[in-house]
Amino acid sequence: MDEAKEIVFSGIQPSGLLTIGNYIGALKSWVQLQEEFTALYCVVDLHALTVRQNPAELRRRCVETLALFIACGLDPKKNIMYCQSHVPAHAELSWLLNCHTYMGELQRMTQFKDKSQKHEDNINAGLFTYPVLMAADILLYGSHLVPIGDDQKQHLEICRDIAIRFNNAYGDTFVVPDAYIPKVGARVMSITEPSAKMSKSGEEGSYIAILDEPDAIARKLRRAVTDSDGEIRFDPEQKPGVSNLLTILHAFSGESIEALVQKLAGKGYGELKNAVAEACIAGLAPVQAEYKRILNEKSFLEEVMRDGAERAGAIAHKTMLKVRKRLGLAPYKL
Ligand code: TYM
Repeated sequence: MDEAKEIVFSGIQPSGLLTIGNYIGALKSWVQLQEEFTALYCVVDLHALTVRQNPAELRRRCVETLALFIACGLDPKKNIMYCQSHVPAHAELSWLLNCHTYMGELQRMTQFKDKSQKHEDNINAGLFTYPVLMAADILLYGSHLVPIGDDQKQHLEICRDIAIRFNNAYGDTFVVPDAYIPKVGARVMSITEPSAKMSKSGEEGSYIAILDEPDAIARKLRRAVTDSDGEIRFDPEQKPGVSNLLTILHAFSGESIEALVQKLAGKGYGELKNAVAEACIAGLAPVQAEYKRILNEKSFLEEVMRDGAERAGAIAHKTMLKVRKRLGLAPYKL
């Protein structure tokens, strides 16, 4: 590890198909940041357990998610990529931080409120303490920067609060991290319901998966919900559907929103949708091709995962020694 570089940490749940929301809001930033920082990118399988999972599927998805990281452009030589459950310190630190987190703080989390509504039959304690495990993920590595989409902002704020509280009580222990949220694309909206966030747990037509076939992408975008005034303009409040399409087009074409609005002035929504579909299909094609290739390289993926867990584990171990000492837990050697 290059000690001179600052640390970046982020994670994605291996639950379901990753969407272009994950790609635009998070993965694209991850790829950019790998050049300048020492980065750890984690498949957060423990977080996924807050919702009931099929074990065989979860196991498969962890490897697939790692393959997708690499296919999106993350270089295993530059980054530490691994599976959260392979480094037990995440769960251990999570317990210690649980004891420094207030019920009231967790009760305010909007994601907890949303998820408990969606999974009324399984409002488990893990769902409630989910942000504490996320704080443990980040704080274990002395992370300075956390690239995330808008929906994780509140979780990062509680992570900062926990770190500051701990530092105040026991002396400087944790780096207090900053969020890294893209200016455009931090909240990609649903295709069919542009007032809601695009989510992999939404209904099929509402999201575009990174691995969707070109036909499916074009079909979904043709059915994208817009509005009735017919003008192509960027205005997320008044025109959420059209603004969302412009955001997606910007993310895949690299052209600024202003340039796109000028170029599309006077054109119909059909043309906008075609342009988005074309850019999206072209942008995802290399990722999809690389994903197919890499998924067959089982031993390579295993090696990346094992090596990542070893390197992450070594850093985590050092942090845990410090934390245990600060808290007064009995040392191994008296
Ligand atoms: P997850 O798996 O739901 O999403 C992964 C990342 O994708 C972003 N994202 C979006 N960005 C823009 N538009 C959208 N529609 C959209 N949907 C998802 C998310 O903001 C996220 O950055 N709790 C986290 C995972 C996690 C984590 C961490 C992240 C666990 N530990 C430590 C950072 C640091 C989650 O469930 O993300």
